[in-house]
Amino acid sequence: MKEKWWHDLIGYQIYPKSFQDTNSDGIGDIPGIMQRLDYLSDLGISMVWICPIYRSPMMDNGYDISDYTQVDPVFGTNEDLKKLIDEAKKRGITIIMDLVINHTSSEHPWFREACKDPEGEYGKYYIFRKGKDGQPPNNWRSIFGGSAWEKLAGSDYYYLHLFTVGQPDLNWENEKLREALYEMINGWLAMGIGGFRIDAIAHIKKDLSGGDLPADGVDGLCSGMEYFRNVEGIEEYLRELKTKTFEKYDCFTLAEVDDIPEERLEAYIGEDGYYSTVFDFCHCFHSRLDGDWRDRDGEMLLDVRNRVFERQRNMEGKGFFCNYLENHDMIRIPDRYLPKEDQNFYSLSMLPVLYFFLSGVPMLYQGQEIGMTGFPREKIEDYVDLATHNSYQGYLAQGMSPKQALDKINRNCRENARTPMQWNDGPNGGFSEVTPWFAVNPNYTDVNVEKAQQDSHSLLAFYRRLVALRKDCLYKKNWLYGSFTPLEEDSGQLWSFMRSKDGQELLVFANMANECAQTKGHYDGKVLLNNYGRLKQRDGQLLLQPYQAVVLERV
Ligand code: GLC
Ligand code: CA
Repeated sequence: MKEKWWHDLIGYQIYPKSFQDTNSDGIGDIPGIMQRLDYLSDLGISMVWICPIYRSPMMDNGYDISDYTQVDPVFGTNEDLKKLIDEAKKRGITIIMDLVINHTSSEHPWFREACKDPEGEYGKYYIFRKGKDGQPPNNWRSIFGGSAWEKLAGSDYYYLHLFTVGQPDLNWENEKLREALYEMINGWLAMGIGGFRIDAIAHIKKDLSGGDLPADGVDGLCSGMEYFRNVEGIEEYLRELKTKTFEKYDCFTLAEVDDIPEERLEAYIGEDGYYSTVFDFCHCFHSRLDGDWRDRDGEMLLDVRNRVFERQRNMEGKGFFCNYLENHDMIRIPDRYLPKEDQNFYSLSMLPVLYFFLSGVPMLYQGQEIGMTGFPREKIEDYVDLATHNSYQGYLAQGMSPKQALDKINRNCRENARTPMQWNDGPNGGFSEVTPWFAVNPNYTDVNVEKAQQDSHSLLAFYRRLVALRKDCLYKKNWLYGSFTPLEEDSGQLWSFMRSKDGQELLVFANMANECAQTKGHYDGKVLLNNYGRLKQRDGQLLLQPYQAVVLERV
């Protein structure tokens, strides 16, 4: 694999609305990120992905953009952003922006014009179709619930929105639209950003040739995914996007693409792929709070392990995945993988060891490093996301009682990851001087950055050591380019593997259960990282304590 400048990045995702408020409006902002740059740099971060900060009516918290060229005033100004980029650079941190080009906001001037004349110039920027017999053009369901089509008042036309009604899908078949997007992208790259996290890009091509699909829910709609995700022919757009923008700047691109067919992986993230890397979704649908996996936690983590290992083997020497466990669209990882009663320093520190030493770009999500978790709300009104409310209505329509529906939301909804960052035990967790836009987890008095900073055995301190080991020049080449060999694969509770390069062998062991585990193999080595005070051995076999995670260099 040819070495690239971005291979050794350590990423950190910021959900700006919830990171740090500085002007006391209860909403996080760019000066807030600026204020915390030293914190990120102490943690060892070298790349920060900021979720959308462009001008937006915030129907989907910024993923509905009404002006691609301006920072939304709630977050600051374009000058603030420029300053942030420069200040980050001084600390060796590259900033990447979110790029949302599958759809705009319905308040984007393009869409406003389009609505005036769906057959006109801007009408062709979006996807309008006439309804049939007073019904939408087909029965696709939006990813966020309800029909994917919205009727244009006073006309026969409907527009397509795969996400909320406020996010009309762009028509990538229109070259003029594509050129307008490329110009915007190049403008940001010229400003000095390091690249983009690319939103929902798997959906830019749609196959609208068919009609209604057999309903798969009580709403009479059908998910339709195969007609608008990774649709054959999308490659043409991806190639053009890359050559007309990203490639010119040799920037870093991190795409959100679920379900890439195995045979296309290399085309996507190989040496000359459309993107630098993609988020692998293979573990995202595992949650012990979900019916499918409840009470089967051991099995669930094993299944995750097997999937992740298979992906590692498939991509070995060919390309990089972006490895992560948390983001703004899923409940927090302790809640997803661990029983509440088992959530403690050992289990929480074991989790990042699962993925930090795999081949790829490791990524953290704000608050993961201090062990932030979700908390149940008492009423549905306490949630703000439209997708949450749509799901809630969907559950009621399926016959659940309001209490059952709320319970399910509390367990599954993505807003659990969007509570304000817990900086200290002062009012509102130090996030804001006023009541925040979204409630802070009441556990902030105990779980917060300041407290963690004062304790050399805190989870935060462990994350620092973890990142430092990933960056250590003695081992870095191996973490990046070493071969990958699974170990102890027939164990029901161990997640272990070896990375080897030029005679150096690095061994990673994580015990995923609240019981001791003994390895079958004999391993001896120098301990590079350990979430316990010591490592027990019996006749050369390792005796791992509950949720113990260790990294060894074989000697
Ligand atoms: C992506 C984002 C999500 C957003 C959606 C629509 O999945 O991660 O937060 O709602 O795209 O833009
Ligand atoms: Ca603010």
